Amino acid sequence: MTPEEFKRLVSEGIPQELPAPKLFDPGLNHAPKRKDILNSNEKRLALKNALRYFPEKFHSLLAVEFANELKEYGRIYMYRFRPDYEMKARHIDDFPHRSLKAAAIMLMISNNLDISVAQHPHELITYGGNGAVFQNWAQYRITMKYLSEMTDDQTLVIYSGHPLGLFPSHRDAPRLVITNGMVIPNYSSQDHWEKFNALGVSQYGQMTAGSYMYIGPQGIVHGTTITILNAGRIINSNGKNLKGKLFVSSGLGGMSGAQPKAAKIAGIISVIAEVNTKAILTRHSQGWVDEVIEDINLLVIRVREARKKKEIVSIGYHGNIVELWEKFADEGIVVDIGSDQTSLHNPWAGGYYPAGLSFEESNRMMSADPDKFRDHVRMSLVRQVNAINRHTSLGTYFFDYGNAFLLEASRAGAEILKPDGEFRYPSYVQDIMGPLCFDYGFGPFRWVCCSNDPADLAVTDSIAVKVLKRLMRSSPERIRQQMADNIHWIKEAEKNRLVVGSQARILYADAEGRIAIADAFNRAVKKGLIKAPVVIGRDHHDVSGTDSPFRETSNIYDGSRFTADMSVHNVIGDSFRGATWISLHNGGGVGWGEVINGGFGMVLDGTADTGKKLKMMLYWDVNNGIARRSWARNEGAMFTLKREMEKTPGLKVTVPYIADDKLIDEALN
Ligand SMILES: NC(=O)c1ccc[n+]([C@@H]2O[C@H](COP(=O)([O-])OP(=O)(O)OC[C@H]3O[C@@H](n4cnc5c(N)ncnc54)[C@H](O)[C@@H]3O)[C@@H](O)[C@H]2O)c1
Repeated sequence: MTPEEFKRLVSEGIPQELPAPKLFDPGLNHAPKRKDILNSNEKRLALKNALRYFPEKFHSLLAVEFANELKEYGRIYMYRFRPDYEMKARHIDDFPHRSLKAAAIMLMISNNLDISVAQHPHELITYGGNGAVFQNWAQYRITMKYLSEMTDDQTLVIYSGHPLGLFPSHRDAPRLVITNGMVIPNYSSQDHWEKFNALGVSQYGQMTAGSYMYIGPQGIVHGTTITILNAGRIINSNGKNLKGKLFVSSGLGGMSGAQPKAAKIAGIISVIAEVNTKAILTRHSQGWVDEVIEDINLLVIRVREARKKKEIVSIGYHGNIVELWEKFADEGIVVDIGSDQTSLHNPWAGGYYPAGLSFEESNRMMSADPDKFRDHVRMSLVRQVNAINRHTSLGTYFFDYGNAFLLEASRAGAEILKPDGEFRYPSYVQDIMGPLCFDYGFGPFRWVCCSNDPADLAVTDSIAVKVLKRLMRSSPERIRQQMADNIHWIKEAEKNRLVVGSQARILYADAEGRIAIADAFNRAVKKGLIKAPVVIGRDHHDVSGTDSPFRETSNIYDGSRFTADMSVHNVIGDSFRGATWISLHNGGGVGWGEVINGGFGMVLDGTADTGKKLKMMLYWDVNNGIARRSWARNEGAMFTLKREMEKTPGLKVTVPYIADDKLIDEALN
């Protein structure tokens, strides 16, 4: 396909002539059949909704086809309209555009739907089982058309994948405003999502799928490495050597697949259970998991051997995590660190495969007999917790990995609560990410080189190392470990060959680090040291982006962890300080109704104007969360905020006075 033909097709929108129907590709991973949740009137509505994207002349044919899709898959994906060109990140100039910023957004969307990046690319799902970029291919096509023709005096508005339209705005406004799954709070259960999504009026955008900020598994390898390294420091006070220790978890999917790779980088033996043959083979063929073992008795022998020889090996166990925990407990295999990364944010529709049923049986039962399937999931969670409790009573350090494991296990009636009603085990944010990273402003800063050239990525890596090393010289003692971990990470990043899809990199940095790195990139773009603009952004999973009571804000102890003011303010504040696009989601990470999260993207085009905006926006983007965490009396955040106020004349934040507990006890007695 010539570059001109590609441009023509991208800007075409809904074609004048109907494209040929698409064949179902069995070689790709596809979304499971969704629950049949609509009544007959609602099915009519879903069909009518779908047809409004197309001229009437197509309706008679498409009505039958879409009705079939709804019946067959539980959703109308409009497969026929999936473009024929290869979906992938390209040089920014390869995308048809009038606004460079719009072209950068097209690059990011294309990367989110790349078949080597996305989990169910033909169903427009990037990761997490149901993390959608769009609900259907018509939305994709119309969005790309709008982006190809928009100017820097317009803003595109997206409602859960639906391109509402281009509206006049101004150069300093965001070019794109996205919301995903924003519903009235009382209508935010899992079944509401099933229904609204089947009707084509809402979607679950996960964190970075529906905000176009997913950069492949690298982001998650980094976060997981930091988590395992710091979990290692909890079980091992010197933290230096995890040799011979064992990490057990589940899931080799979109994000969870990073666990064996990260464990290897952190230097610990890992066994990760996975029930899905395709997922386990993908990770094995990518070299992310060293060995695959199906026979649980052989697995026990192999683990004993690895322990004895202090081998750093990652093993994928092809089977159910419940059976793995039980077997290791029966055999007396000591697990040093344990977690779980099944997709329990989506427990009833393919996120969790219960023990006792085969993978295929589960897939059948979840749509044919959802109530029975729910019972199986609950029984399996009870069993899993019983086995984990046996291990932790012998000293295993177990933590919830932000997948709603503790929450769903407690709802299933498992023995997961302490007498005071709190969970028996911490979330990784309570013990690790919160007090060591978020409270100091460290979070998942990332960038994408819009030249799509690995040479540019190498230049950005070396700039980032230089900047961080300089900052580390004058940084306070208590954040040095984080800086050192990230400098080490970035130096090794190229060697670890983690790029899948766009030329992207991630590291954890605080406000000062993020601003200094972005500023240095912007200058390098101006000087031509980097050949095209750079997009910066982050995961929603950050200091300020997410209000999630059992995850990102689980280490907020003033009772406000069930509020969502921070994430909403975060996005609003970013929007008028220079973000190129912003996104506000319901449900990212732990599921619909459980969390509100927001994020941004910003294009560094090398101009002085961008230089000003990046400082203003990144400063707010990190520090608003520090201010909230400080108000919640988090010690690290109070320290960081004080330091920030001393440096910044315009910053005046309300800080808490700390009441004496004894005095409060006396007052109440
Ligand atoms: N990696 C991280 O840093 C991180 C951070 C926060 C949250 N999470 C959460 O972790 C979860 C997993 O994310 P993902 O993108 O990998 O999802 P995914 O759906 O792609 O992968 C989960 C995998 O678990 C497997 N699985 C389900 N039940 C199983 C069982 N009983 N035994 C063995 N395997 C089983 C599935 O087959 C699937 O491949 C999500 O809930 C996500 O929100 C991950």
